[in-house]
Amino acid sequence: MRRKLAAGNWKMNGVTANLSELSNMKDAADTKQTDVLICTPAPLISRASVTAEGSNIAIGGQDCHANASGAHTGDISAEMLVDAGADYVITGHSERRVDHGETDAIVAAKSSSAYANDLVAVICLGESLQERESGQTLDVIGTQLAGSTPDAATADNTVIAYEPVWAIGTGKVPTLEQIAEVHDFIRAGLTERFGDDGDGMRILYGGSVKPSNATEIFAVSNVDGALVGGASLKADDFNAIISALDVS
Ligand code: 13P
Repeated sequence: MRRKLAAGNWKMNGVTANLSELSNMKDAADTKQTDVLICTPAPLISRASVTAEGSNIAIGGQDCHANASGAHTGDISAEMLVDAGADYVITGHSERRVDHGETDAIVAAKSSSAYANDLVAVICLGESLQERESGQTLDVIGTQLAGSTPDAATADNTVIAYEPVWAIGTGKVPTLEQIAEVHDFIRAGLTERFGDDGDGMRILYGGSVKPSNATEIFAVSNVDGALVGGASLKADDFNAIISALDVS
């Protein structure tokens, strides 16, 4: 049985005052079936991990460098995330692929660096609207999955997140059939390559998940949770998503 995962990605939002939202998630996160993760901006990780102490909320980063250390001004290593209190790191988010030119090979190298530091990598995949409309979705996802996931991926060190680029922050959500098609395709690719570990890896859906659509999305085959942007910034919204996942 795969444990469910409710993951929030705060993106470039949040300063110390916003940690009150994290505090207000602690009770809702106290579930038996569901893991809860909030990926804060890097400067907040150490304070967020103190805020989350004694709760079921894990803290994660949103990116790491592939190298262990060196002359990379402004970058953050996986070891630094761990040192600040992170247990997870998002790799290959579409905003980093687009804004920072991250290729599948770079995402795989960052994920390997995460593994080397005992961080769980949340590896993101997703097609653009143009790729969706031209019928390339499964080709794009297959290529990203193969190229971004290191050979050392296991059920314990890897979570896959399917985030269609056109659904992020837009309020547009794929149909449940479209979500099922991609999640089933990812599952088949993972089990073919990783066997039992591929069966055990969690696959999250991300893109405009809200309290109002969470229950139906969580009932879709091979959806093991969500990676939530905007609706993870407010405890009221995220707590409702945790509850929806916990009963699904
Ligand atoms: P939204 O939930 O704001 O659409 O963002 C999704 C996302 O990109 C999470 O990583």
